[in-house]
Amino acid sequence: MPTVYILNGPNLNLLGQRQPEIYGSTTLADVEQSCTTLGKELGLEVRFFQSNHEGVIVDTIHEARHKADAIVINPAALTHTSVAILDALNTFDAPVIEVHISNIHKRESFRHHSYVSLRAEGVIAGLGINGYLLALRHLAPLLRGV
Ligand code: DQA
Repeated sequence: MPTVYILNGPNLNLLGQRQPEIYGSTTLADVEQSCTTLGKELGLEVRFFQSNHEGVIVDTIHEARHKADAIVINPAALTHTSVAILDALNTFDAPVIEVHISNIHKRESFRHHSYVSLRAEGVIAGLGINGYLLALRHLAPLLRGV
């Protein structure tokens, strides 16, 4: 079964409590559960990660090079700052989908630029946590060849 790594950056562990007017009231554990359930339906193995530390995310991308068939990543604030995450993703030879819960283009100008978008095949922003599920729906036929 194809494996998809879903990576989440800083502060997303507080999803549901953190600025719910922007990010909603669903927790990250709920998102993980929804992704795992949908993954099963779509024939994908989903592995879900969150870290507040840039280096841990880089290490997980390195691990994905050998263990994953695609990456879905919400780098959170590191989207706008991290050349290291971009460089790590550039070592990964399979699809990368960037997800943002909020519409970063409707927010402060410092959120409009994404280093990760230079690598991502596609970007989903502003569709709430549905963005993660839409990314899986996009990847399933590509990875399963159906
Ligand atoms: C975010 C948007 C980022 O600008 C912000 O720093 C986040 C979350 C989103 O999912 O909307 O932490 O990536």
